[in-house]
Parts: sequence; C-alpha cells; structure tokens
Amino acid sequence: MFRKSFYITTPIYYPSDKLHIGHAYTTVAADTIARYKKMRGFDTRFLTGSDEHGQKIQRTAKEKGMDPKAYVDGIVLGFKELWKALEVSYDDFIRTTEDRHKEVVQEIFVKLYNQGDIYKSEYEGWYCTPCETFWTERQAEGRVCPDCGRPVELVKEESYFFRMSKYADRLLQHIEDNPEFIQPVSRRNEMVNFIKQGLEDLCVSRTTFDWGIKVPFDPKHVIYVWIDALTNYYSALVGGQPGDSLVKKYWPADVHLMAKDIVRFHSIIWPIILMAAGIELPKKVVAHGWLLLEGGKMSKSKGNVIDPLVLIDRYGVDAIRYYLLRELPFGADGYYSEDALVQRINSDLANDLGNLVSRSVAMVEKYFGGQVQSPVENDDIDRDLIKTAGAVIEEYEQLMEKYELSNALAAVWRFISRANKYIDETFPWLLAKDENKRARLGTVLYNLMESIRIITIMIAPFMPALPPRIWEQTGLTNAADDVKSWDSLQEWGLFPSGAVVLKGAALFPRIDNEKVRGEEPESAEAVKQADVKKDDTKKDAGEKQGEEQEGYISFEEFAKIDLRLAEVLKAERVEKTDKLLKLGVALGDERRTIVAGIAKHYTPEELIGRKILIVANLKPAKLRGILSEGMILAASDGDNLGIITVDPDRNIPGGAKAK
Ligand code: MSP
Repeated sequence: MFRKSFYITTPIYYPSDKLHIGHAYTTVAADTIARYKKMRGFDTRFLTGSDEHGQKIQRTAKEKGMDPKAYVDGIVLGFKELWKALEVSYDDFIRTTEDRHKEVVQEIFVKLYNQGDIYKSEYEGWYCTPCETFWTERQAEGRVCPDCGRPVELVKEESYFFRMSKYADRLLQHIEDNPEFIQPVSRRNEMVNFIKQGLEDLCVSRTTFDWGIKVPFDPKHVIYVWIDALTNYYSALVGGQPGDSLVKKYWPADVHLMAKDIVRFHSIIWPIILMAAGIELPKKVVAHGWLLLEGGKMSKSKGNVIDPLVLIDRYGVDAIRYYLLRELPFGADGYYSEDALVQRINSDLANDLGNLVSRSVAMVEKYFGGQVQSPVENDDIDRDLIKTAGAVIEEYEQLMEKYELSNALAAVWRFISRANKYIDETFPWLLAKDENKRARLGTVLYNLMESIRIITIMIAPFMPALPPRIWEQTGLTNAADDVKSWDSLQEWGLFPSGAVVLKGAALFPRIDNEKVRGEEPESAEAVKQADVKKDDTKKDAGEKQGEEQEGYISFEEFAKIDLRLAEVLKAERVEKTDKLLKLGVALGDERRTIVAGIAKHYTPEELIGRKILIVANLKPAKLRGILSEGMILAASDGDNLGIITVDPDRNIPGGAKAK
C-alpha cells in the first residue's frame, strides 16, 4: 500500500560541548511532530546528527590533548544518551565524519566546480593568530580580535568561492511561488529583504586548518562549514545506500526545523546549493524562537546553561517535554525558569490531567467495582462534552499542521478542563446515592473514561512515556490498537465497556518546590513568619496579653484562618434576591458551594474561571436555604467592591493556601 512520506530534520549540533535545554527544545519539538505524523499514518523519517568538522572543534580537541575524532566520539555519545533520556525517536543519526556523508559532499563540490559555480580566488580577512580565526571588517572593529582583544592582521588566503549571486533571482521567485517555504512569515520577510540587498559569493574552503572534508582535486583545502553541514540532510538518504530508495521515498524533506539563528543558512545557502546541484528544494524551513534565561541567551561562557539531564532526573521526562513544548509559543522567544516549570507540573499536569484521571478511575472503582459500564443515554451536558472533544481534535489537527505545538497543547488542556467541569456538572457522588440513577452514573463515568482515552491519544506525541501509564489505570493496556490509534478519534464511544480500571500511583505527584531544590533559600515571607514564631515562643503570657490590648494578634491566631485560593467553576444568581450569587468552587480536588453577597458588583459570567481568595474554615452557614461552605474575600470602599484574586501570571492552582 502506498503511504505518504514525511521527512523532518533538526540541525546537526556542534559537538564542541554538551548540549543544553535549548538544543533539547528543537529536538523534542521535531520528535513530537514526527511522532504525530507517524500516528497519522505517514511513512515518517526523522533525522538528527552532529556537525563535527571545523577549526573550533579541532582547537578544543587540541586543548584537551586529544585527537579530534576521539574527542567528538565522546561528545556524540553524550548527544545520543540525552536523546534517549528525552525519548527522542530519531530514525537516523548522521555524523559529518562518516564516509557516507563525506562522499556526497565531495560529489556536490566537484559538480559545482565543474559547472563553474565554484571558483578559486583569494579570501581576505582580519586574522587573529592566537585564536586562529578570521574576522570580517565589521567584527574586527578597532583592528582587535572580538574574542581575545589582541591585534588582528589583514591576511589573504587562497579559497574556493560559491557563486551565490547567480541564483538570487531564482530563489526569490521560489520564495514567492511557495509562500509556505519559510515559516513563520516574519522570518520569510527578513530573508526576502536580505536576498534583495544582494548576495555575496560565499567562501567555501579553507587552508588554515585541516579538520574537515578535503577538496578532492585540491587536498590542501578543506570544505568549509556550510556546504559540509547542510548537505547532511541529503547525504543521510543517499550516502552509502545500495540503491536510491530512501531518496526516492523521502526527498525533498518536508521540514527542516531549527531556531532563528541559522534560518538564513537554511533558507538561502542550502536552497542555492541544491538549485546549483539540480536537486529538488526542501518543502519548508521552519524556525522557532529562542529559549532564553532571565539574564539573556544561554551560553557556556556565561556559565548559565541548563542541563536537561538534571531536569529529567528531578521532574521526569514527560514533564520536561510538556514544559518545553507548552512554554514557547511557535516562532516567539520564551523564558526558561524552573519555577515556571514547577508551576506547569503542579497546575497543568498534577492538578488538571492527573486529577481527572485519578478522580475518574477512583469513582469507577468505588461505584462499579472497577468495571467501566456501557453508556445508556446521553443528555445535553454529555452532548456538550462530546461536541467539545470533536472541536478540540479538529483544532489540534489544524494547529499541528502549522507546527503550533504550544497551541495544540493548549487545546487539549481546554478539553481536560471541560472534562473536569463535567464531573462538577453531573454530580456523580449524588447519582451514586440513588439506586434509580445507576445507569446514569454508569454513563457519566463512561463518558469520563472516553474523554481520558481521547486526551491520552492526543498527548501521546508530546509525552510518549505517559500513555502506557494511563492505559494501565484505565484498563486498556491490552486493548486493541485501534482504540488507541489516531483514527479512533473520529468516533466518540470507542472506549471498550467492561474494561477494568486499576488505580495506580499519581501520574504527576505535586512538587514542593523548596523540598525538591534543597539548596534554594527560604522565601522572605517564610523567614519572616519563622521569626515571628520564634519571638512568640519567647514571650510569656503577660506579654501576649499586652499585644492583644494593642490590637495585635499572634501568628498562631492568624494561622487559624484557612485562607485558600478557590477556582470558580460555576456561578448563578440566587433566586428572589438581588444580592446573592451561588458559586461552585474547586479547592484542588475538593468542591464547595459558597453563597456570596456580590451580585450587585459581579455577573456570574465574570466570575467563572477566576481564582479568588476565600476563608475555607469558616463555619458553614445556610443562606436562603443554601449551605455556604466558605466566605469569599473582597475589598470595598463603600460603593465599589472588588474580589481579591492572585496574580494571574503566576498560575497558582486552586486549593493553594494563602499565607
Ligand atoms: N552546526 C550548526 C547547525 C548546522 S545544521 C546544518 C549549529 N549547531 S549548534 O549546536 O549551534 O545548534 C544551533 C541550534 O540549536 C539552533 O538552531 C537551535 O535549533 C538549537 N538551539 C541552541 N540554543 C537554543 C536556545 N537557547 N533556544 C532555542 N534553540 C536553541 O548551529
């Protein structure tokens, strides 16, 4: 049977050092796209690798007293270990030091030379002898090396050059004819402007170092950087292959993925090399943004690189993959912070997804001895849930086609919230009290299990280690593949009734930030409170009394008030009053009803979805016949009243304690 193919690549990374979380971002994103395409039935090929030649690597190896090949061998081993730890499922890993690559690079070089697109001339540049590096006029401003600050000298070196300018118009035409060739649009525009300013011929060989692929007809030259590196995407299909089946199947590549730093090489130099060589151009060059740290870009010299292995060890691979792909909106830069990572784990993974699974499984166990019932009849609430599932699947598919991974995850989480809300709307715990409502209860729980099935399939490309853990709890480990496949999303209701659920460990245990990172200093607030406590114990009863007389309360007294963040799930007016609203709120797992006198200041719609501060341990009281289980906090100046909320940017989960 003919299957459509899909070929995706990451940049080949320099093995000059260990990789950091920025490199992990690109590779995990490519892996997610590849896994998704595989699920969609494409014959997928995913390539990554290492870019091993060049002066810098030769120098680093020398500094370590090593042969360059032995040096890169060690580093590349580390790359592969990292990809394994991150569940990256590449089909091929190409190293530019492999013969299969070298042969193809040399072939292309010779072809371009023979047809006159590569010619010999002189390269003139500012040379720093201690650093063995050439700099351009602008880089060597003040005639000093921008790296070490020592004087540079004007040096001429015999080099081969590639006639880029000859192809500029053809490339512009190609970009115009294929509006999706460079993505996102902002990068496309940048590239078009760059080409329009005129392309200079490119220096493509060097004689000042020898750690590279030799020019076959002039071996004192090594082929310089980009012709060598970029050709990997093609050589991985043709080099060392007995036939041309791989290139026939997978070329042209569907996507070259990278960060914006090297988009120019991929969308200008690479297409021109291919045009000159008479090879079809890749379909898309897709550039994402930078993962930054508060202090700016991650770099070894700043000593601020984040090692993904440390994070995997601390938080698990699923959480890291989720965080990276959720945090960086497509094409834009984003900031990495461990606090934000922990927030995501606690709110999105532990609270939203983890709780949905654990609550649903627990209810099937409690009410039906673990067996998922057959659904009977759906009502309006069920139909809304089913409709949301359909809409989210469609949106997800559209977003994935545009590689908007973060938005695709956001869509899945909308459905997760919808499913959590479904529990609150259907009141399974009340249905369980009425023997006549067994069938309804069975249907509600069935719909929840079906929602979890759909969610699990959609998150599989992002968090590949997670589905088996969810299938285990939902009783689908041994279920047929066609209830776990992408195609099964076409139809609601494929969860096999009769499956037996099994409650297991929490999918994502909540993380206590300070405990995990033992080295972290205590928060200023915690220190303050501890000091107050210390002082308090020193004081005798007489002193305490004195404080009370002056209008103070002790810390213990304050601590008696259980202030908590509550998420408003429902809100409605209380009939026959113009003051009262009845709110359904969530404190983490727990659900409560609160009656609040704020109807003159807020409409129910304004409150739904907000997180508000409440006193959670106020004695419950009946208001208009409704038991109110808490009091919301608000500030008022008489006419105006505003509820007290918590900084929404921080995404503190419902149930969190205020202190
Ligand atoms: N060897 C060249 C690429 C040749 S491809 C034919 C190279 N290597 S690199 O090791 O410097 O990798 C650069 C790539 O790593 C970026 O394009 C991006 O994919 C990834 N990233 C490195 N740091 C990153 C961030 N801080 N944020 C996002 N991506 C990052 O250039």
